[in-house]
Amino acid sequence: MTSAVNKTPEIVRSVDQMQQRCLALREAGKRIAFVPTMGWLHEGHLSLLREGRRRGDVLVLSIFVNPTQFGAGEDFDNYPRDLDRDAALAATAGADLIFAPVASDMYPRGYATYVDVEGLTEVLCGASRPGHFRGVTTVVTKLFTIVQPHVALFGQKDFQQLAVIRRMTVDLNLPVEVVGMPIVREADGLAMSSRNVYLSAEQRRQALVLSRALVMAREMAAQGQIAADAVIAELTQLIAAMPDARIDYLQICHQRTLQQQATVDPDSVLLLAVFIGQTRLIDNGFLLDSAPSQG
Ligand code: PAF
Repeated sequence: MTSAVNKTPEIVRSVDQMQQRCLALREAGKRIAFVPTMGWLHEGHLSLLREGRRRGDVLVLSIFVNPTQFGAGEDFDNYPRDLDRDAALAATAGADLIFAPVASDMYPRGYATYVDVEGLTEVLCGASRPGHFRGVTTVVTKLFTIVQPHVALFGQKDFQQLAVIRRMTVDLNLPVEVVGMPIVREADGLAMSSRNVYLSAEQRRQALVLSRALVMAREMAAQGQIAADAVIAELTQLIAAMPDARIDYLQICHQRTLQQQATVDPDSVLLLAVFIGQTRLIDNGFLLDSAPSQG
């Protein structure tokens, strides 16, 4: 298996072929690093791939817009898809193999098995998007079973997803090291997301309110304002000043339990989901510098 940067990665469509291929790689003593994605790659995904390249002999990327994690009326049909574009980008980060299955192979007729993580999935995005995490944990379990990675890399922008996947990996004794990687931002602070492509120029401008809210919360905490209610009230005003913004949630939570906190401490993370027009964006960040890293 060559890993020369810029060599176009091989694309495997079949679940069986991918599993056989990865089994053979493991038997040959190769360390498999894995980056699961839904495609429309951006710099955030590429940072995961580069770290995966460093951590494994073989770098596998999956591209699958997973239908089971989208609710009715969400953007499954519109989610941006372009495999050629993604393959070219993945090549620049040194990916060896792209697993791009079709839904009917991942969820064939008669499919009936789901993975549920309790507790962590009922709050935040789980409250707004019922069934979302069941779809995520199910597909990630399947992907882990097919790709059999030694290490898998996820972005911290999906903070709750990362916490849920860590819980699941421990609870199910999955032999995979889960690595969280820092959020990658545009120069003006907007967290990179495949969904940013939905924003008009004006909405793109208003979307900056998410990262501004994080900066404001950190400043308040640094100045000694540790009452969560007071911080949330200020941020709510800031966001409400944007005509196209609608808050889905805005909470200060403990980084591991994801339970809301009354007082900011080193484990506090601000988590927010805000609709800008029809586009739902998420962001998060620790509020105190002494925060231990989740990575
Ligand atoms: O974060 C994502 O892109 C998806 O939720 C994931 C982990 C690839 C599962 O479909």
